[in-house]
Amino acid sequence: MSNQKDSCITLASGFSFDYGNLYGAGKVTADDVKALSERLAAAEEAVVYMRSTGEVRGHLSKDGTPEKVLFTQLPYVVEGNLNSPPSIGRLKEFGKSLQNRVDAVVSFGIGGSYLGNKVLFDVHCGEFWNSKSLKERNGYPKLYFNGNNIDARRTADMVEHLLAEARLKVVHGQSDSYKVTLVVISKSGGTLDTMSTFMVVYDALKRQAPLLEIEVVAVTDPAEGEKATLLKKLAAEQGWPTFSVPDGVGGRFSIFSEVGLVTAACIGFDIDAFLAGAQAMDKVCQNADIYQNPAKLNAALKFIAAEKYGRDIEVFMPYADYLKSVAEWYVQLLAESLGKRTDREGKEVFYGRTPIVAVGTTDMHAQTQQHQDGKKDKVVQFVKIVEWEQDAIIPDVFPKAAKLSEISSLRLSQALDVAREANAQALINDERFNATFVLPRLNAYHLGELLYMLALSVAYEGELANVDAFDQPGVEAYKRIMGPRLTAMKAK
Ligand code: PA5
Repeated sequence: MSNQKDSCITLASGFSFDYGNLYGAGKVTADDVKALSERLAAAEEAVVYMRSTGEVRGHLSKDGTPEKVLFTQLPYVVEGNLNSPPSIGRLKEFGKSLQNRVDAVVSFGIGGSYLGNKVLFDVHCGEFWNSKSLKERNGYPKLYFNGNNIDARRTADMVEHLLAEARLKVVHGQSDSYKVTLVVISKSGGTLDTMSTFMVVYDALKRQAPLLEIEVVAVTDPAEGEKATLLKKLAAEQGWPTFSVPDGVGGRFSIFSEVGLVTAACIGFDIDAFLAGAQAMDKVCQNADIYQNPAKLNAALKFIAAEKYGRDIEVFMPYADYLKSVAEWYVQLLAESLGKRTDREGKEVFYGRTPIVAVGTTDMHAQTQQHQDGKKDKVVQFVKIVEWEQDAIIPDVFPKAAKLSEISSLRLSQALDVAREANAQALINDERFNATFVLPRLNAYHLGELLYMLALSVAYEGELANVDAFDQPGVEAYKRIMGPRLTAMKAK
């Protein structure tokens, strides 16, 4: 059930899309949306068809063969689906097997094999998880990411850090060894960034046996035999357990698959609630009425804002530190899905809206000057959390400092919200488009709603722009140059 009031779609869960500063006189108008009605109807039909068959017109895999698009199936945990009761059960068992046994997990991956995992980590664990006690972590391991860059210094620092942790544990007589699980995530199974850093860390840690004990888990394409990825073959050879990056689920949609859920399992994140939120959003977004369907409306308003009003940059600006990684995840989703040279008929269109990461209030002291006074080429997309699990009342500790005393007795969450509202108001006062996604609380369920809505929204926008939202041919260009250069370098 949703309810449209004052340019705002509010779902039964309390999640809402407030688009009042993006829609109306001087913004995207009702007539603009009406003028798009034929394309919207076609987009609706295409999304409905994709949801029921997995087929998307013209979508081909990297090797040029038709490929299904199945991310809309992921929220439904059903026998025979990509996420099924046994597959979710196995993930949870994996999580339990780490509890009170494994000291640290290192998750290797890049792009779609990292960004969603980092979101789940940040939202559930926050910044200081690795400094918390085992009890505070409910027995779950510390968690580190690597492979998200080819950075020798950070990799060496991480290895050093793990060694120092291991020595500390042994010196304190808590155990004879420090156990580390390396989770290697790569759909293609051979990505340079992921695999090079994995090999460096694997070797460095292995040399420290018996102080360090390592085990490896691989997450990759499940194909067997000739089509098996390098990582899959390696896992079979070495006897490493595996999870799957299912066929038909591209990296940027894989947070709801075993890719994201492996990290969820490692930290005790609520998988059921996360998928339930995504499922509830999928159901709401089956409403053909655009004003009741947040994914379709978001896509249409931003498409029109870009095409008709030149607002083809989207600043994704959550007001919460731990949602910065959602903005980073969204950058990949928007850029890889919609930044396309040609339409589906092969005509050059150079479509795409440029995503920008920002965080409130931080970037009000950095980017806002440009958002407010620079080119009118942006939509600023805010994310607001209504109820904070932790809050603080600003104390009146310096009563003689009038300016500081004035803000005392306010809650930090109130100060944050006033800052966001003021930013939104100042922008719209100058016809600078913005909108707000409102999450009642920052939890697994509402996160599932938000991320799924964004994923579905790019599917709608791909239809409106007539581009394939599910391929990424552009990233092959540098790979064709890099591959031979790496080979030549090795030969020298
Ligand atoms: O969205 C994508 O397809 C990419 O960002 C990939 O996720 C990224 O390149 C990593 O690829 P792989 O999982 O094959 O290592």
